[in-house]
Amino acid sequence: MKAILENKIREALAGLQGAGTLPAFDMPDIRVERPKDEQFGEYTASIALAIAKQAQKSPMEVAELLKEKLASLDFEKVEVVQPGHINFYLPSGYFQKVLASVLQEKYPAFPVSLKNEKVMVEYSQPNTHKEFHIGHLRNVFIGSTLVNVLRKTGDVVIAANYIGDTGTHIAKCLWGLVTFHSGENLEVISDKAEFLGKVYSEATQKIEENPEYEEAFKALQQKFEAGDPELAMLWEKTKGWSMDEFQKIYTELGVSFDEYFFESIEEEAGKKLLPELLEKGVVEKSDGAIIANLEKYDLGVLVLVRQDGSALYGLKDIPLAKKKFEQFGIDRSIYVVDIRQNLYLKQLFKILELYGFHEKMIHCGYEFVALKGGESMSSRKGNVIPARVLIDETITKVTSQFPESPDPEKIALGAIRFAMLKHGAGSRIEFDIEESVRLDGATGPYVQYAYARIASILAKAAEKNISFSGQPVQDRVLEEKEKDLIREIAKFSELLLEIRETYEVHKLAHYALRLADRFHSFYNECKVVDEENREVSGERLKLVFAAQKVLGEALGLMGIAAPEKM
Ligand code: ARG
Repeated sequence: MKAILENKIREALAGLQGAGTLPAFDMPDIRVERPKDEQFGEYTASIALAIAKQAQKSPMEVAELLKEKLASLDFEKVEVVQPGHINFYLPSGYFQKVLASVLQEKYPAFPVSLKNEKVMVEYSQPNTHKEFHIGHLRNVFIGSTLVNVLRKTGDVVIAANYIGDTGTHIAKCLWGLVTFHSGENLEVISDKAEFLGKVYSEATQKIEENPEYEEAFKALQQKFEAGDPELAMLWEKTKGWSMDEFQKIYTELGVSFDEYFFESIEEEAGKKLLPELLEKGVVEKSDGAIIANLEKYDLGVLVLVRQDGSALYGLKDIPLAKKKFEQFGIDRSIYVVDIRQNLYLKQLFKILELYGFHEKMIHCGYEFVALKGGESMSSRKGNVIPARVLIDETITKVTSQFPESPDPEKIALGAIRFAMLKHGAGSRIEFDIEESVRLDGATGPYVQYAYARIASILAKAAEKNISFSGQPVQDRVLEEKEKDLIREIAKFSELLLEIRETYEVHKLAHYALRLADRFHSFYNECKVVDEENREVSGERLKLVFAAQKVLGEALGLMGIAAPEKM
């Protein structure tokens, strides 16, 4: 509807210009908004204010002219208000049409003019030999939701992962292994990935505390980078342990990737690219190191190769960025990466631009996640909380809170996903397990409960043999609460399009909450299952069914289960 209306306004304006009523000027960007308060209609346009000057008329005059042109549309009412806003009110028939399209599975619907793209969304990107922590969870939730939303709106999406399987942290872990655990039988360790995370933390700590270890570590790192076969074997084996654990987590979280990239492979590609980068003057030699000097652009200096010849993070990202476009033919490349790498990614994109690579690359940054009361659960004195700890603790909470739940794990994972997704990516989260599972808050279980409640209403109706097939009755007069509910349903398509452009996946969580709220207030006011009044009952059941469908879709896009029972 939004896009149609925007188009109509564009046509009306062109018509006025064509007729000479308004002077000719370039067509401005035309947008209609949802007014803050629904008493001002369904949509409002401030275009008259924006173009008054060019039109050489007062905003009110322009608004009136447009209103005249638009009045023939299917609106109940079009109104001009001071200082020049145009408000559009929808007729009852519109609401029934939305309902019909949901019932016919034609919803959400997007404008035919929507240009679909091939997009790669790179997310998760954990480092092997380190713990998968709660910040990684947030990344997975944002990334997978983005993938789902883009796919829903028709884009072809490649979900990609980029495993950090090389670099200093790996060498540290390997050093820790051979120095402090060489005599142990590692095969019998049950949670090998957790063990590696601990060895890595332990190694870091030892090196910090004891400068002598620094030398020994450096020696091992060099040996490893030079390709020592024994260390290479240890690396392969332990990397496998981490990968197995990541896979387990992804299965549990219900996500999968179409492509896996590895830092160890991109490192080779980066080294091959170096001569060309040097020749083009994109990077330069400096004291034996190779750097990109971006001070001119206020982006500092990025070291790509150290003095000792070892490749750094940025060197690997250059060939990878190219590969994504050249090998996969994508239009857009999205990086879901910790916000602390904001400067780094700007540097990377600038280097690529200087290299002559002009493609659409977008960084979706997200902030840090802490756990309320998590100090006691952190895996070392830093504040790394393993994802596993959060998941297990939340399952325990849910099990005690909903003792009859057929699937507490599903509820718990829904609670965690929702609690993280409801925050804008730019805000820090202090995760509160207790809070996340409350039935009476802005939580996953609250929304899931609304879904389950609907399921039980539909079951009850079936029991009483009240059916609801067929088209909604077009001229039925709707109650305000019914309209409110449909209105919310009708916002779903627009919302998905908005997220497609802005990547603000938290809006999906907010939407689900509002839809659940609207459902409850509708249900409290309007009798649904009513044997005395089967016709109205049937009509309302259509609404209930539609609400369930859209709520289920919204949950599904966020990767949250929609349970029939809780
Ligand atoms: N593995 C990296 C880290 O943990 C994140 C990778 C982000 N993606 C990229 N293309 N640089 O910091």
